[in-house]
Amino acid sequence: MSNTSNQEQDDFIFRLKVLYNQMVHIPIMLATLRKEFPKFFNQNDDADTDLIQDLKSIPLQEKINNNILNHSNRPTTSYFKKFIKTIVDQLQKLDQEVHEEILEKFMKSLSTPTGLAGDPLCIKSYCLQDSKKEEWVTLVNENAYNLVGMTTWGAAYLLSDYILANKSFFSDKHILELGSGTGLAGIALQCVADPPCKKVVLTDYSPKVLNNLKENIELNNIEIQDFINTEDFQGESEKRFSVRILDWEIEDLKCLDQCLDIVDSEIIIGADIVYDPSLARYLVAILNYLLNKKAGSMAIISSTIRNQSTFEIFQKELVEKNLIVQDITNQCDLLNPSPFIYDRSQIVLYKIYANIQ
Ligand SMILES: C[S@@+](CC[C@H](N)C(=O)[O-])C[C@H]1O[C@@H](n2cnc3c(N)ncnc32)[C@H](O)[C@@H]1O
Repeated sequence: MSNTSNQEQDDFIFRLKVLYNQMVHIPIMLATLRKEFPKFFNQNDDADTDLIQDLKSIPLQEKINNNILNHSNRPTTSYFKKFIKTIVDQLQKLDQEVHEEILEKFMKSLSTPTGLAGDPLCIKSYCLQDSKKEEWVTLVNENAYNLVGMTTWGAAYLLSDYILANKSFFSDKHILELGSGTGLAGIALQCVADPPCKKVVLTDYSPKVLNNLKENIELNNIEIQDFINTEDFQGESEKRFSVRILDWEIEDLKCLDQCLDIVDSEIIIGADIVYDPSLARYLVAILNYLLNKKAGSMAIISSTIRNQSTFEIFQKELVEKNLIVQDITNQCDLLNPSPFIYDRSQIVLYKIYANIQ
């Protein structure tokens, strides 16, 4: 007999689904669930504390099957296999019969090939609502780290978290994202309502990244204006969301003046765009140009500090351009619990303004 209520089981399943869809590493998944739902786990300190005791409950197994395993959008075949194997292994340890449909899927998974190199792409989904309204956003990522813009990075989780916790700040604003990559932070702006963002312009420079970005936005039923292959860089989008090519290493920043979509931005956002020391001066030059063009504008940049010296080069460039920098990492409102599972300890959040006196 389970000692958890129906509601508690639904809450547990919802969180399990969030973790599964984000492809959280299985040991981290179990540790997160154990922390948030201790009642579902083995309470005996001597025993396996990662064992979900409540799996003995057939209704809970049924919910896992119906709400998670039945979904056709699997993150990757290999992740699905690891996940279902964990469930089956746990049930065996509990000496509990495996739900018929779970067993069937497990047996089938054993004969499903994943290929020598594994799955080239993965489909990650995120529940972008702070309540349990199931508003999922799905993004295609590449599994190999060949091209940085084909992966959704931790700094994008923090920036999206910040957007979702501070929606009114972005309301009715014209927003430009630099180095959008797979597009999570830009797509999170779709959740801003009453009124929504005035304009959202997502940019990157690599054709492959831009095409994936466009496909990701369309995958989530957001209408966009596609400027990726337009010979003429100028023009303004009629649609709220647009995708543009914007290389920070632009020779003459004045050519941006023709693009109202870009120079009219009131908020510039960027996640994990400070990672290459050779790009810092271009990035700061473009920030400086745009922040000085539009009175009252600001940039909000989240950065993972992997290498202190790279970040120092960026900070030095900001000081040289006389930009005002505010570190809001420890003062910003974020969602609790976050819809994203990530390690925040190395990520900072900066607000940057022009020093207009
Ligand atoms: C580490 S990724 C971050 C992607 C995304 N913002 C995220 O956090 O998931 C860095 C992004 O900057 C883009 N990028 C790198 N150099 C660039 C340049 N010169 N101009 C424009 N974008 C650039 C990359 O294509 C990539 O999408």
